[in-house]
Amino acid sequence: MFWPDSISKILEIKYPIIQAPMFGVSTPQMAVAVAKAGCLGSLALADLSADKSAELIRETRKLTDQSFAVNIFVHDIPELTESLREKFIKTKQFITDLAKENHIEVKLPDLEEIKLNSYHDQVEAVIEEGCKVLSFTFGNLDEKSIERLKENGVTLIGTCTSLQEALVLEKSGIDIICVQGIEAGGHRGTFEADHIPEIGGISLLSQVYDHIKVPLIYAGGMYNGKTLRAAKELGAQGFQVGSMLLASQESALQPFEKEKLKNVTGKDIVLTKSFSGRYARGIKNKFIESIEDSGYIMPYPYQNKLTNELRRVSKTFSNSDFVSIWAGQSVHDYSMLSTENILTRLISAAEAGS
Ligand SMILES: Cc1cc2nc3c(=O)[nH]c(=O)nc-3n(C[C@H](O)[C@H](O)[C@H](O)COP(=O)(O)O)c2cc1C
Repeated sequence: MFWPDSISKILEIKYPIIQAPMFGVSTPQMAVAVAKAGCLGSLALADLSADKSAELIRETRKLTDQSFAVNIFVHDIPELTESLREKFIKTKQFITDLAKENHIEVKLPDLEEIKLNSYHDQVEAVIEEGCKVLSFTFGNLDEKSIERLKENGVTLIGTCTSLQEALVLEKSGIDIICVQGIEAGGHRGTFEADHIPEIGGISLLSQVYDHIKVPLIYAGGMYNGKTLRAAKELGAQGFQVGSMLLASQESALQPFEKEKLKNVTGKDIVLTKSFSGRYARGIKNKFIESIEDSGYIMPYPYQNKLTNELRRVSKTFSNSDFVSIWAGQSVHDYSMLSTENILTRLISAAEAGS
């Protein structure tokens, strides 16, 4: 039997393949299609409010009676010092001017208009809505949340990008650890926003496997049977794929963004803090080039909130220079088939060894 069964048993799925939560890209329809392929879908809730999170959970439930994971960001919110307030004003001005130079009229928010949500409210929503699998990134849940979630029978999946982070997650009782290789598309799940470990996926997965007893999911760079088999060989019992679903029928990416992916080469894929204030991997564009070394990057979540409106407006004009298109290092043909079809092919290829 090719497929390891520890994670399939815990998550009650046929194949231990998990659709990566991809905020802004994955959709309830994607989670449904993933379940049809016998895998686990994920609903990305990022740092949405508790009400919005509950609404999306209900919307997904209406479409399927299969289980899916919900995913949240468990970051700390940096204290707003006087110097950060001043930096916010300058950063807002810099981005507004940059947009104007590029013929984009955009009204970015003032600091007072920004609403920040705490993940604690989302945890309550997850419990109230009866979700059974919660994955999270950017840190670890606090002790009380872990206790509350476990009392309510929720299986917890934490993300690590270093052995040290994996040890912290295991010690606090997290059930499954998702090991995120440096290849991965999207945000680094690193606990500390500024100091990201740069260890490659092969080294990280094998080290974590040697030191950790809980089952491991690997995420980062898998896009065909061979890459998935390599992760299995190194100790992964579950496989989380993101970038290979970016252009799928159920992806929320716009046609111009899918088109951009089709023409991407390895040198276009970079790690950048410019859109959100946390490192994320995606396609280099004019915004990243203009802001990366400018000094005008606020810590997460402030930078993210500042650039949201610019990205929203740019999307309506199909302007790929001012939207964030996150993608991992494994550049490939980004299939436009349905998610179910893409995963069914991946399953067959992994079984066949191709
Ligand atoms: C567009 C995009 C958005 C992402 N958003 C999230 C997210 O909301 N939460 C999360 O835990 N991981 C997120 N990730 C990271 C994935 O969970 C996963 O680590 C990554 O996709 C695996 O690498 P791959 O893209 O090479 O398959 C995102 C990845 C991408 C490509």
